[in-house]
Amino acid sequence: MVHNLESIIRRMPKVELHLHIEGTLEPEMMFAMATRNGVKLPYHSVDEVRAAYQFSDLQSFLDIYYAGAAVLQKEQDFYDLTRAYLQKMQDENVRHVEIFFDPQTHTGRGVEFDVVVNGIHRALEEARREWGISSRLILSFLRHLSAESAMNTLHQALLFKNWITTVGLDSSEDGHPPEKFLEVFNAARKEGFITVAHAGEEGPPDYIWQALNHLQVSRIDHGVRAMEDSALLEHLGKFQIPLTVCPLSNVKLRVFNDLRNHNLGTLLDKGLCVTINSDDPAYFGGYITENFLQTQSALGLNLKQIVRLSQNAVQATFLDPIEKTALLDEVNCFFDPYISGSVH
Ligand code: HPA
Ligand code: ZN
Repeated sequence: MVHNLESIIRRMPKVELHLHIEGTLEPEMMFAMATRNGVKLPYHSVDEVRAAYQFSDLQSFLDIYYAGAAVLQKEQDFYDLTRAYLQKMQDENVRHVEIFFDPQTHTGRGVEFDVVVNGIHRALEEARREWGISSRLILSFLRHLSAESAMNTLHQALLFKNWITTVGLDSSEDGHPPEKFLEVFNAARKEGFITVAHAGEEGPPDYIWQALNHLQVSRIDHGVRAMEDSALLEHLGKFQIPLTVCPLSNVKLRVFNDLRNHNLGTLLDKGLCVTINSDDPAYFGGYITENFLQTQSALGLNLKQIVRLSQNAVQATFLDPIEKTALLDEVNCFFDPYISGSVH
């Protein structure tokens, strides 16, 4: 039977697990906030900003991304940014989001930690009440900064333990191995935080091993370079450690030269708990639906693979078991008619 996969992808209940809230800053909002906060941008128009979004690697993106984040100054800015993102997710039938924020990007410019968290949390809470979108908030340490700076940031987060469930690690991978943050992650786990880390995006498979063995992470963000290490593939499959893969990001940052050459389909077929996510959608050309649509089309994914990706995403969430079961039921109920063949 022929299914219209595009229509199914647009309508299916979705989960986002790898999303940097600062990476949802669209050029229009960047300009509006620059004006209202009196921040001078190195661009004259929205078109000029979009034209600057040509990246040669991770670092070339990060330079622009951190510069853009300078317009975010007040609690209202963080609220507006998060609210706009969640409104889009409501339109895309996203049921649950786990989003990263990078406090050091802001505290390093003199914006207080609580200004950032209060704004983001208020929008997340509203989305839960108004639209039933559940969420988790992940504090991500910038790995190009010192372990000491990360530890200070962790201490600031302790007051917000009810709102922040998880800590992660992002920014420039090259030269900043996970083991640099061993002590910080030990302290974080002792305080009850779940841990995740970006690894194996640009960095070698050894960084994925370090994240697993030293930082004891529950998920790997990206992880596509696991493909180079067969023992690692076996480990990830055996323990069903989720990979939060971001296909459009990987192409924009030249981890893969073309979406048709992405290894997501292969990793999935090897039985790994692969998920599709959007990373920094304002910079990489698409939110979660667009990531699914383009990846399905480029790799020729079939319905069974789309169902598997959707179920993986629910399994990979940090929801509690009852919430997880409810969401899995919702996903399975959506797909059931297509699988049993009663819908043409
Ligand atoms: N990798 C590392 N750091 C990041 C990313 C990413 O893809 N996006 C935002 N910060
Ligand atoms: Zn990321």
